[in-house]
Amino acid sequence: MFNTMTLTKAAGAFIGALLFLMLANWAASGLFHVGPAGHGGDHEGEEITQAYSIPVPESAADSSGVEEEVIDFAALMASADAAAGEREWAKCRSCHQLNGSDGVGPHLNGVVGRDKASIEGFSYSSAAQDMPGEWTPENLFGFIENPRGYMPGTAMSFAGIRDPQARVDLIAYLESNP
Ligand code: HEC
Repeated sequence: MFNTMTLTKAAGAFIGALLFLMLANWAASGLFHVGPAGHGGDHEGEEITQAYSIPVPESAADSSGVEEEVIDFAALMASADAAAGEREWAKCRSCHQLNGSDGVGPHLNGVVGRDKASIEGFSYSSAAQDMPGEWTPENLFGFIENPRGYMPGTAMSFAGIRDPQARVDLIAYLESNP
């Protein structure tokens, strides 16, 4: 019985502390201005600044290597450089052309906004034929990064381009070849 009481108290205190940290963090992160002179009583002001300083630096310092790469595609695409993309195109030209004729791969002039696997007379893999939709810049961005990951079973044997900037540059170059 004594143990249960202690446990309950400890759990209560812990949850209370958590709630306080959350509130303090929320308050300190902008909605509540912690003034220089400890406006709402100096005890309160002290606790708030202290609580606020705990969660922020630790997580930022420890997880630097684990962080997921978040890409703002629209912003990146807006920064694309078609001239740089022309140099990337060297990786594609052994199989693709931009003059309307097909080689190992279908011609890619006009590919941006084109329905997938829609070139008459080119024999696409069934993987390509089964993929709905059109080649929006964002779809191309995903496909060029990892063709076989994006379209499992594709006949395009190309490893992909990792660098996001290189990919948007290339897409801008393709866009400039209608
Ligand atoms: C080794 C040859 C080869 C290389 C290199 C290659 N491709 Fe392809 N590509 C293909 C083939 C083959 C297909 C048809 C895929 C299928 O049917 O599954 C294709 C299809 C595509 C498609 C879909 C076209 C459509 O009409 O649906 C796009 C887009 C594309 N490639 C872009 C690129 C880009 C960009 C590069 C350079 C970074 C590149 N490819 C490099 C062979 C290649």
